[in-house]
Amino acid sequence: MAFAAPQIVRGFSSSAVRNVVIKNVTIIGGGQMGAGIAQVAASTGHSVTLVDTSGDILKKSIKMIEGSLKRVTKKKFSDKPEAGEEFIKKVVQKVSTSTDAESAVQGSDLVVEAIVENLKIKQDLFSRLDKLAPPHTIFASNTSSLSICDIASSTNRQDRFGGLHFFNPVAMMKLVEVIGTPATSQDTLDSLLDFSKVLGKTPVSCKDTSGFIVNRLLVPCMMEAVRLYERGDASKEDIDIGMKLGAGYPMGPFELADYVGLDIVKAVIEAFKTKDPNNPLFDSSDLLNKLVAEGKLGIKTGEGFYKYK
Ligand SMILES: NC(=O)c1ccc[n+]([C@@H]2O[C@H](COP(=O)([O-])OP(=O)(O)OC[C@H]3O[C@@H](n4cnc5c(N)ncnc54)[C@H](O)[C@@H]3O)[C@@H](O)[C@H]2O)c1
Repeated sequence: MAFAAPQIVRGFSSSAVRNVVIKNVTIIGGGQMGAGIAQVAASTGHSVTLVDTSGDILKKSIKMIEGSLKRVTKKKFSDKPEAGEEFIKKVVQKVSTSTDAESAVQGSDLVVEAIVENLKIKQDLFSRLDKLAPPHTIFASNTSSLSICDIASSTNRQDRFGGLHFFNPVAMMKLVEVIGTPATSQDTLDSLLDFSKVLGKTPVSCKDTSGFIVNRLLVPCMMEAVRLYERGDASKEDIDIGMKLGAGYPMGPFELADYVGLDIVKAVIEAFKTKDPNNPLFDSSDLLNKLVAEGKLGIKTGEGFYKYK
């Protein structure tokens, strides 16, 4: 991961904002995803402001970033530990923190939102920020299951609004889905694609449809595996083995669901169902609902479909 300034050149026209070169990035939400995005943006030379609701959360976000950077540099600088330490210091210096989103966006080229997965809360946030961010600032949401169009409707910059969907863990996963709504301008899409490449990621484009590319295929596959198991057609262990050895998946659908979190899988399929109520692929599962109600959410709680020590 090189520590280099972004290389694309800013080109404005008087009538429209064009190919904004993203140097200053504000990330709202310092959780798992926001901290990861901040790390990758800072590692590639961007000035990052990370925003969350309290100083204590932000301290944890910085700890998360340092921990992840340590893992990255251990491999990358295995024979030069001092250079690794220096790299971590430089990256962390590029990240400032704030609990004041309104001030943080004022010098920002791009705002990436990675807060709680709730439409109303995301809309309220963007509506407030829209009044204070400079005209050229692009807004992007990292939502997994909500409509970008619905989130963007709370602002007056729908042409400068898109989806930037990273994958977990952000430092490791190469893919970014860049989502355009019918109102998103081509310049905004180009800027988001360029930004993703500067981060060292591989962007793919998708329209604003439920689950975009990856989750639209992955989540119904997990739900279909649960239904197969619920009907007693096969054991969960055999389904996982089948998909690993027969389809080349690195994790079986039950292992993946436990990794993602069963509450997240449930929330995503429910969001799909709301948008497309007649699609049987988006039907709920009694077993999944029961596990979530019992707090068996997967690896993070020690038990989901499988038990973890
Ligand atoms: N976890 C994943 O695997 C994953 C993958 C891709 C996308 N996403 C999406 O990314 C977003 C964040 O997910 P996460 O897993 O990082 O969640 P998380 O719960 O780890 O972090 C969310 C953070 O946002 C903060 N927050 C909530 N409301 C806020 C507000 N109004 N202003 C500032 N900060 C606020 C919370 O304090 C928390 O620190 C969600 O939209 C989710 O759908 C998650």
